[in-house]
Amino acid sequence: MPVFAGTLPGIVGLFLERLTLSGYAGQYVYGVFTCGESSGFESAALNAALSAKGIGYNGSFDVVMPDNFIVWSDVPPQSRIDTILADADRMLDEIIAAVKSKTDGRIDASAPKMPYFPLQKVSSKDGTSKLFADDKCTACGLCADICPMSVIKRDTDGKPQWDGNCTMCFACLHRCPPMAIQHGDDTADKGRYVNPNITL
Ligand SMILES: Cc1cc2nc3c(=O)[nH]c(=O)nc-3n(C[C@H](O)[C@H](O)[C@H](O)COP(=O)(O)O)c2cc1C
Ligand code: SF4
Ligand code: SF4
Repeated sequence: MPVFAGTLPGIVGLFLERLTLSGYAGQYVYGVFTCGESSGFESAALNAALSAKGIGYNGSFDVVMPDNFIVWSDVPPQSRIDTILADADRMLDEIIAAVKSKTDGRIDASAPKMPYFPLQKVSSKDGTSKLFADDKCTACGLCADICPMSVIKRDTDGKPQWDGNCTMCFACLHRCPPMAIQHGDDTADKGRYVNPNITL
């Protein structure tokens, strides 16, 4: 899962709060986090969320990926993206080996500063108020199809309207083919990143 603001994405935090598992004692449970730069207290947050459900935790592993939070920075240049993805493949091999050998990952037992990224954290009102489509939008509907929170509706012209609690995954913003989706004034002059293995 991705790291958002040093912790779990809102949608993951809410999922874990509602999770009910039985007959799970003694199972190995790991967290694999993708992050843009560095880890924060997401391992502590996952540990606390699992422990609240009586589920054990064998630690987490971090995979650095191209940073998709382009509000404060831009996407890395292509040469840097290629290096990051090659390193990530090597890291995945290491994680697979650790899980197969039941080796613990990083266990952070401290109290997390934030259990999960609140859905309204970056934008105000309902969590989506800064996202909009500019006049490059072709009304293709892709953003509405891929939003994991189902908060993008289409108006009578087929253009997107945001309404509801957004988890700030930025999938709509990065995946829009004509780069029409913006976050306030922060993204018009920024690049976009889509993992080359994504075919959805
Ligand atoms: C709202 C938001 C907050 C983020 N916060 C962090 C962060 O605190 N630390 C970090 O290293 N990366 C951060 N990132 C970057 C993502 O963790 C990283 O790009 C990740 O690979 C995204 O995974 P995905 O492509 O599966 O969504 C953030 C991204 C978003 C969209
Ligand atoms: S993905 Fe982009 S072009 Fe397609 S409907 Fe959404 S905003 Fe418009
Ligand atoms: S796809 Fe867009 S609207 Fe949907 S949760 Fe992600 S950032 Fe929010």
